[in-house]
Amino acid sequence: MTENEFSSIVKEYTDRYFLINGKRPGVFVRTFGCQQNEADSEILTGIAVELGYEKADSENGAELVIFNTCAVREHAELKALSITGQLKHLKNANPDMIIAVCGCMVAQEHRLNTIRQSYPYVDIIFGTASHSRLPEYLSGVIRDRERIFSPDDSYEIEEGLPVKRESDFKAWVSIMYGCDNFCTYCVVPYVRGRERSRRREDILSEVRTLVSEGVKEITLLGQNVNSYGKTLYDNYDFADLLTDICKIEGDYIIRFMTSHPKDATKKLVDVMAANSTNQSRPRIARSFHLPLQSGSDDILKKMNRHYSTENYLSFVSYLRDKIPDIAISTDIIVGFPTETEEDFEKTLEMLNKVRYDAFFSFIYSIRQGTPAAKMEQVPDKVKSERFSRMLDLQNSISLEKNALYVGNTERVLVEGISKTDSDMLTGRNEKNRLVHFKGKECLIGSFAYVKITRADTYCLTGELAKEET
Ligand code: 5AD
Ligand code: SF4
Repeated sequence: MTENEFSSIVKEYTDRYFLINGKRPGVFVRTFGCQQNEADSEILTGIAVELGYEKADSENGAELVIFNTCAVREHAELKALSITGQLKHLKNANPDMIIAVCGCMVAQEHRLNTIRQSYPYVDIIFGTASHSRLPEYLSGVIRDRERIFSPDDSYEIEEGLPVKRESDFKAWVSIMYGCDNFCTYCVVPYVRGRERSRRREDILSEVRTLVSEGVKEITLLGQNVNSYGKTLYDNYDFADLLTDICKIEGDYIIRFMTSHPKDATKKLVDVMAANSTNQSRPRIARSFHLPLQSGSDDILKKMNRHYSTENYLSFVSYLRDKIPDIAISTDIIVGFPTETEEDFEKTLEMLNKVRYDAFFSFIYSIRQGTPAAKMEQVPDKVKSERFSRMLDLQNSISLEKNALYVGNTERVLVEGISKTDSDMLTGRNEKNRLVHFKGKECLIGSFAYVKITRADTYCLTGELAKEET
């Protein structure tokens, strides 16, 4: 059967559903994990909507539920399994409901088998790289009520798939997929396949379309954006791609993540500086996410990271030299196998040296099949004690850095109503700081200038100075 025939079967079903029920069947995609998964979920929703489904706000009442899972840490997997378990009663109430589980967790054979055996009400299991086959999977369930298990057998880039974005003014653009780095703690290379870059023309045309639709913030995504192009071009890298993107006219800002320090180049910093400094409306956000993972050179070696703390610090000083007020954030893993108190203290030293604007810290989690799983493990109690010491240190640094904003007027992209206070709006400045302020709802989706009056560890608060015209 052809792709069109699969789609026709699903469309016939959704049309029939509409005739009988007077509304379209709902699709709800729940995302676990990273921004790449969020981007993938927007594609899955886009495909379902094109097949005649309507986006739903929750699992309740939806006819198609897709869980897009994460495998980076065990906690994320346990959460996905537990929420999948809760779908059983929804399926009992509505046996026609179709349940799919996809993404990194089930791209691992042992997890696929768990779902297959212990969650019989899950109809479809697929991996991370075959979103375009969703019509085929759905048609199989609709026509034959068969269960479908489809681990990835190809990692071809799929262009031109429909996307239903969560936001009208913020967008993700994947520029590459997969990872070849095999950091010894990480499961990503096993579940997302080898690194492959999208063609520059496809990326540029997607960015152009987004800008013409009025999108204000575009985040370029990849496991290691700094090695963009390696699989495609001899002489065109991430810095060249950024240069080309910045030539696209419009009122928008570019962010990117994640950068591997071993591949971060001076050329990239120069391109950022050229497109972010000396401008009242910088094209590239002055913000850089540079995962350190550990401050101990011994541990970095065991992690297979291919840089030393010395290389890392010299890149940071080049970055700060060219873009003095750049915000730098990082990822740190605490309690990697064999980490000693001395190793850990070296990580604290790095936090004091770099003085990150923000950090994301993780307790090491054993991932089956990775080299670090076989190394000598640090006891849980030691890991959590180190974790809280590190958090205390970084919290005090974040607070001190945030305090420097008090009195400044910040340009903020207004994202929505604050989750903790419905009278307040919330947004982010160029440096990715969360900013709360009072303002009209109509500001959501546009830039506003906010005078900062108060600093806390995780956010800033201020007063609307002016709306951008
Ligand atoms: N345990 C804990 N944290 C991990 N990360 C990746 N793998 C693991 C693991 N096994 C963290 C890294 C990475 C971030 C996305 O998740 O810090 O940068
Ligand atoms: Fe995982 Fe390392 Fe690849 Fe990042 S660079 S996805 S941490 S293997």
